Amino acid sequence: MTQKSRKFTQAPLPFMGQKRRFLNQVKEVLSSCPSDATYVDLFGGSGLLSHTVKQHYPSAKVVYNDYDNYRLRLDNVSYTNRLISDIRTIVAVCPKDKRITEPERGLIIKRVLQEEQTTGYVDYITLSSNVLFSMKYVQSYAELEKETLYNCIRKSDYNTENYLDGVVVESLDYKELFSKYQDYTNVVFLVDPPYLSTEVGTYKNYWKLKDYLDVLDVLNGTNYIYFTSNKSHIIELCEWMANKPALYNPFAGSTTSAVNNQMNYNSSYTDIMLHKVNYEFK
Ligand SMILES: C[S@@+](CC[C@H](N)C(=O)[O-])C[C@H]1O[C@@H](n2cnc3c(N)ncnc32)[C@H](O)[C@@H]1O
Repeated sequence: MTQKSRKFTQAPLPFMGQKRRFLNQVKEVLSSCPSDATYVDLFGGSGLLSHTVKQHYPSAKVVYNDYDNYRLRLDNVSYTNRLISDIRTIVAVCPKDKRITEPERGLIIKRVLQEEQTTGYVDYITLSSNVLFSMKYVQSYAELEKETLYNCIRKSDYNTENYLDGVVVESLDYKELFSKYQDYTNVVFLVDPPYLSTEVGTYKNYWKLKDYLDVLDVLNGTNYIYFTSNKSHIIELCEWMANKPALYNPFAGSTTSAVNNQMNYNSSYTDIMLHKVNYEFK
């Protein structure tokens, strides 16, 4: 890695859930860790934490778990830049941050279709952050076609150069990667799992409470930097459990009934009743 390699303070291509607001705190923690340790970013996402560790400690071994294939997006950045540049030209006449009306909207859709047909690759996440309402993302042309477009086009090209320099890339389920490194000495795990999802049926990678709790296994007796949010209540739950040494499952042996509640066409939740009745009591 060259001395001059660029320090990214955010992921070079849009990625929801990247930990850019934690980088200073992460660097502070790193300062109390060895510079030649192995750092394993179990839930690598955009790779921003791996990049940050490698920049901080160039001689450390840093393992980035690219479970989502973010590299595919990085590798295709020149196509993405060319597409965004063409769209920038189309929307030059449109007011910033406002709805894109016809004929420009139609021209954009046509240009994206052409990209699909000629290169076979469109980075819909990056495209979404340029032409959709804030935080709205589509994954395909079919989805994009139905959307209202907004002019939030980026002014310059994306630059991904040297972003993953020196980082070892893996693409595994985090449990498999953990088992590869758990017996290493001098290893620090970066643990940033997906948010616990309370929505139903909309996410491809829906993380249930059990999945979320399973991750806690990787914290047992290891060096770690763990991320969560107050929405998960995981810290509260762990504190509560610490005061109940003889934990047991109060629902063991009970019977479950469920009732589904449809909120609207894509959202529903299930009310659950559990019962255990001792018929012998008087
Ligand atoms: C909160 S994000 C991590 C963000 C990352 N720290 C960053 O700064 O960009 C969680 C990531 O874990 C990935 N993931 C989901 N299931 C996984 C699994 N079983 N093993 C490893 N990664 C997984 C998600 O796809 C997502 O990219």
